[in-house]
Amino acid sequence: MKYTTPMFKADELSGKTILVTGGGTGLGKSMTKYFMQLGANVIIASRKQEVLDATAEELIKETGGKILAYACDVRKPLEIEKLIAKGIETFGQINGLVNNAAGNFISPTERLSPKAFDVVVDIVLKGSYNCSLLMGQYWIKEKIEGTVLNIVTTYSWTGSGYVVPSAVAKGGVLSMTRSLAAEWAKYGIRTNAIAPGPFPTQGAFSRLFPEGLKEKIDPLKRTPLKRYGDHQELANLSAYLMSDFSAYVNGEVVTIDGGEWLYNAGEFTGLDAIPEEMWDYIEKEVRGKKK
Ligand code: HXC
Ligand code: NAP
Repeated sequence: MKYTTPMFKADELSGKTILVTGGGTGLGKSMTKYFMQLGANVIIASRKQEVLDATAEELIKETGGKILAYACDVRKPLEIEKLIAKGIETFGQINGLVNNAAGNFISPTERLSPKAFDVVVDIVLKGSYNCSLLMGQYWIKEKIEGTVLNIVTTYSWTGSGYVVPSAVAKGGVLSMTRSLAAEWAKYGIRTNAIAPGPFPTQGAFSRLFPEGLKEKIDPLKRTPLKRYGDHQELANLSAYLMSDFSAYVNGEVVTIDGGEWLYNAGEFTGLDAIPEEMWDYIEKEVRGKKK
């Protein structure tokens, strides 16, 4: 067995309908594919209908599953209302929400216009609370025990320079995850989050690790497992958190980053750079100090 292997084998998500925002590309698409393979109906929503349609066609061919591709800007509550109504009309009900849509780019903060700050915060934070609020109201009214999964990042809690709007927004989404987990559990609604490390996607890598900069901020050098995440690994974790196998997991954020954030937070992990043969010398030097 390898980490690229699908974890569940059968119909663990059959009977469920899951809405994945940003499901037309990247990690959203990979999660969508696996949910469909596990028998779920999936609704994918983002701004570009043509991207969604191409993904839907591809995934129907690959999985034989059911999917609704519906253009929607998560910043706009009226569009989300229409999306939810269309999803219910198509599949009868909606049981899960994955807040995956995001906007991001690197920039020194002082170069940002207020609009540039807004665009990222509005997609990530406002988009996530708009979808959570409208789905939550629907679930509470219809007595459906829904599940929310928020895709955040490890800098939701560490913060990070050069992506400050994203850090602010993802921090808010993490806080919302824990807050709603506590408040809405009484309705049977669970809310969890995944914090991925570097997983290659066109959307993220083109904006965050452009060619000229790759050497300087190479995520492989920052990750002690020395590899990127594989999309199936993340899809496996998301399927578990959307399934009833995780029925008692609520308010949790699961980090899947190969140890990246802790590696870079630890005061002395940089000593990895010391070649084995130098340790005899260093030990002698350090022990010598005692005398
Ligand atoms: C400074 C910038 C900028 C840049 C845009 N702006 N790019 N400012 N540096 N690189 C400014 C614009 O000048 C404008 O402000 C404002 O932002 C809005 O820009 P638009 O281009 O009009 O916005 P829009 O077309 O809606 O595009 C939104 C976007 C874009 C966020 C800028 O990148 C996008 O569509 N992203 C969606 C997908 C995405 O980002 N995926 C990556 C997620 S990765 P002014 O004032 O000039 O009008 C992720 C991973 C995290 O989150 C962790 C990784 C390890
Ligand atoms: P991606 O392919 O660019 O995914 C972002 C998606 O969000 C796109 O499909 C985009 O589609 C959609 N979107 C953007 N603005 C939207 C809006 N206003 N309304 C609706 N949809 C919108 O990048 P990704 O790497 O797969 O990212 C997916 C998630 O993983 C994000 O939450 C990201 O923060 C998180 N993440 C990724 C990594 C990584 O290494 N890849 C690491 C940590 C966290 P449109 O542009 O067509 O609308």
